[in-house]
Amino acid sequence: MKSIRSDEEIQSIREACQIAANVLQRLVDVVEEGMTTYDLDQLGRKYIEEYGAESACHNYRSGNHIFPAFTCLSINEEIVHGIGRLQRTIQAGDVVSIDVVVRYRGFIGDNARTVLIAPIADENQMLIDATRESLNYALTFARAGNRVGDISNAVERFIKRHNFGIVREFVGHGVGATMHEAPQIPNFGRRGSGALLKPGMCLAIEPMINLGTGKVDMLDDGWTAVTRDRKASAHFEHTVLVTSGDPEILTIPNL
Ligand code: MF3
Ligand code: CO
Repeated sequence: MKSIRSDEEIQSIREACQIAANVLQRLVDVVEEGMTTYDLDQLGRKYIEEYGAESACHNYRSGNHIFPAFTCLSINEEIVHGIGRLQRTIQAGDVVSIDVVVRYRGFIGDNARTVLIAPIADENQMLIDATRESLNYALTFARAGNRVGDISNAVERFIKRHNFGIVREFVGHGVGATMHEAPQIPNFGRRGSGALLKPGMCLAIEPMINLGTGKVDMLDDGWTAVTRDRKASAHFEHTVLVTSGDPEILTIPNL
């Protein structure tokens, strides 16, 4: 089956994921009030190049649109696929989602995190904690013999304990030589439904959770997804390998 990777492919994906994780960590470490999102994106470009990798976002095509930046930077009501801009300065209290996808020796590593700029509003802290924890919980279901719906349902079940909105328009995905491979991994669904998980699958699991409504609007740039009520959104993502035992999280930084 196509979504099962060979040992050689897995080794390449592992290396791509290690780079993606280290780049993301470095961006998290430098992001601060007063920086423009353009500057942060350019740092992402530089870090990716330092590892001999390339951005899988840059020039990524979707329909008629070509993604112009090197990372996805989504601030406050922006959910995913925000584009770094010279006119957007990171401000006190911002909710900053950073998504790094690299290609290295032909394979993809994909991960994202949301960070808060001081002063931190309690509701934003609760939002990012819940989103991160929903990912960590869902990851434990990425086991051979489970189904995609077990991962999806874990996110939904976790988030239902809070009054937050789950984004339904965007989903996690398999990764391999391209960024979006089968299976799709929604952040909601029924236990026991969907594709069977097998050793050798590499999955990007990525809850996108909103303070208010889960409903989405698209900006005119053709990329940036924002919350319909313009309240804040958070996004955490890991790429994980399904094994015959415990899942292996591939996007843990080792700086
Ligand atoms: N992690 C995002 C995703 O899986 C990255 C998208 S890159 C972009 O959709 F180029 F499409 F923006
Ligand atoms: Co992804």
